[in-house]
Amino acid sequence: MQKIMKRILTTVPAVLVAGMLVLAPSAMAQERDATDRAAFARGAKAWSENCGRCHNFRAAKELNDEEWHVSVTHMRVRANIPGDVAKDIIAFLQATN
Ligand code: HEC
Repeated sequence: MQKIMKRILTTVPAVLVAGMLVLAPSAMAQERDATDRAAFARGAKAWSENCGRCHNFRAAKELNDEEWHVSVTHMRVRANIPGDVAKDIIAFLQATN
């Protein structure tokens, strides 16, 4: 009986630690996914409100990730777009190009 108790007492913490090691990164990944999705949604909206104001909308496919970073940073100054909004727009364009 004591042997069983000892085994349970040593196994349970090991299982808990293992569970935490498995679950913590996936919870973090889920949180990051949710953050990415929120940035994407905000970016899509901000893009539709801002990026067709002065010229036709440029298709996301026109530029690669790095070029969008440069271009939106440039447009951010022209269009007077706040930095966090520009970041969302970049996330949206990079996810759809
Ligand atoms: C205030 C007006 C204005 C707004 C708003 C604007 N643009 Fe522009 N955009 C310009 C002008 C003017 C040019 C021509 C290049 C130059 O002189 O800067 C241009 C050029 C571009 C180009 C061609 C390549 C380049 O970088 O020069 C792309 C791509 C572009 N804009 C994307 C966007 C996106 C994406 C947004 C939304 C974040 C946006 N623009 C919002 C004025 C604007």
